[in-house]
Amino acid sequence: MRIGLIGTGRIGTFHAGVLSRHREVGSLVVADTDAARAAYVADRTGSTAAPSVDEVFSWGVDAVVIASATSAHADLIGRAARAGLPAFCEKPIALDLPGTLNAVGEVEAAGTVLQLGFMRRFDEGYGAARELVRSGRLGRLHTVRAITSDPAPPPAAYLPLSGGLYRDCLVHDFDIMRWVTGREVVEVYATGSDAGPSMFAEAGDIDTAAAVLTLDDGTLATATATRCNGAGYDVRMELAGELDQYAVGLDDRTPITSTEPKGPPACDNPWPGFLERFAPAYEAELDAFLQVVTGSLANPCDGREALHALRIAEACELSRRERRPVALAEIPGG
Ligand SMILES: NC(=O)c1ccc[n+]([C@@H]2O[C@H](COP(=O)([O-])OP(=O)(O)OC[C@H]3O[C@@H](n4cnc5c(N)ncnc54)[C@H](O)[C@@H]3O)[C@@H](O)[C@H]2O)c1
Repeated sequence: MRIGLIGTGRIGTFHAGVLSRHREVGSLVVADTDAARAAYVADRTGSTAAPSVDEVFSWGVDAVVIASATSAHADLIGRAARAGLPAFCEKPIALDLPGTLNAVGEVEAAGTVLQLGFMRRFDEGYGAARELVRSGRLGRLHTVRAITSDPAPPPAAYLPLSGGLYRDCLVHDFDIMRWVTGREVVEVYATGSDAGPSMFAEAGDIDTAAAVLTLDDGTLATATATRCNGAGYDVRMELAGELDQYAVGLDDRTPITSTEPKGPPACDNPWPGFLERFAPAYEAELDAFLQVVTGSLANPCDGREALHALRIAEACELSRRERRPVALAEIPGG
């Protein structure tokens, strides 16, 4: 298979490595608006650098993987759909709802494949949690607690193109909460703080966020995120039911220390970031995409799924701005 990869930044470089090693990928063409960056990644992965992003679409590729800055996703998704090409795209689809609805509409009108990069769906721990909820082992689920803590802020230049903490970061928690519980969010109440590094306030963003979410069966959930977790990269989910409770992401690399004399030993090798913590999941999602392209697997995460997660992020932004609970029914696209 001939694959075109667009965007060779942090995550695009990782995806280029995975694709270049994959048995189904005969050739890989990479492109970036920063041509030197694409050339560097092509050199490191034994792939070919296209002179421009346009060239990727005229190289006879079988599918495209979009890992550019979020602001370019919707346009590239549309171009892939119009070219009849299956596309894998990093989350989120777009910075806003109209852009997301438009891109999903284009893909559906073209009848092409769009798989979104919600890699937690391919993580072993989240997969086990989903099975546990379905098996009834937890009994009636009453509380879900989702945590995403980045060890350090991204570069300041990333913030204005990211869509903000809810759309960029917590959107993963919203997607995985729906996927693990099988329930829909019906209401959110969210807030945020920009008390950390000044670049967040300057970009109109927040560095820390907290939301209370009500699911359609009455289960209550919290989701928190920060860009400033000095202890390390911490992504967890706790699921508590009437019969039992379980935690995803709690292991000897979880960067949290118990204050109890008989607590577990302090972690001396915390997860440094998403690429290390989720490496197997990123590999599995691209492997799944290549199977989707060949028709041997159903799409595990299509545009509509991504739209649901984004609508929750939009509701949180509205709630934070207007300081009130927001019903998901208020957000278009449901
Ligand atoms: N699934 C995940 O866990 C995960 C993790 C990190 C990033 N992401 C997503 O991946 C995307 C990229 O994030 P990143 O951290 O790699 O950012 P980054 O800033 O490191 O890289 C983005 C790259 O895109 C390039 N670019 C910008 N506009 C472009 C265009 N129009 N065409 C081609 N290339 C263009 C930039 O030159 C840059 O090299 C974002 O949408 C982000 O939300 C997802």
